[in-house]
Amino acid sequence: AAWQATVLTLFPEAFPGPLGLSLAGKGLEKDIWRLEAVDIRDFATGRHRSVDDTPMGGGAGMVMRPDVVDRALAATVDRPGPLVYLSPRGRVLTAQTARELAAGPGLRLLCGRYEGVDQRVLDKHGVAELSIGDYVLSGGELAALVVLDAVVRLLQGVMGNAESPEEESFERGLLEYPQYTRPAVWEGREVPEVLLSGHHAEIRAWRRAQAEETTQRQRPDLWDRYRERQAEAPD
Ligand code: ADE
Repeated sequence: AAWQATVLTLFPEAFPGPLGLSLAGKGLEKDIWRLEAVDIRDFATGRHRSVDDTPMGGGAGMVMRPDVVDRALAATVDRPGPLVYLSPRGRVLTAQTARELAAGPGLRLLCGRYEGVDQRVLDKHGVAELSIGDYVLSGGELAALVVLDAVVRLLQGVMGNAESPEEESFERGLLEYPQYTRPAVWEGREVPEVLLSGHHAEIRAWRRAQAEETTQRQRPDLWDRYRERQAEAPD
């Protein structure tokens, strides 16, 4: 069965956005995954269809009303997968989380706007919070697109010339080695000679060394973890 994404949002027109293009978009066409954008405003009542209100206790901005979000969540309880609320307070998305989500049947993503969603409706539904990094976006929609891209590219049949995802940089704990294509000399700059040699073992060793150097220089935090893991289980 197709992996199913259900996005609850005040901006359903933001979907599929860039996920309708390229490999993710092909995956949608091939029905490897499905995307349903549910408009939270459809669950608002009254003449003004209001979805938000001022923060209790005072402060700037607006908070999404618990009753409206509750009805939107109730209307989508039958959709497969865990329910996550995109929020900078959440656990930060990693390659491991993306892999776990891709292994499941789908995902329900709740996008907040304004200053967020009333805490009581998050508590009632046992929502897990997920962040895409330590910065604040103006809403969950871009974060949902990021999460879905990271997950959907792992689904069987979505990645074109499928390198197995286990061989990807973050799965091995190192950043990617540099890539080159033709011509062998461009504006006087040469492709590293080893890559033209056809010696596969040497190429592998060179790429590994490059990946290690880049990781050490650009991400000392990843490098330390990599060194710890290598000390326990070298490869
Ligand atoms: N909503 C606003 N900022 C966010 C972030 N950094 N991650 C996920 N959702 C968000």
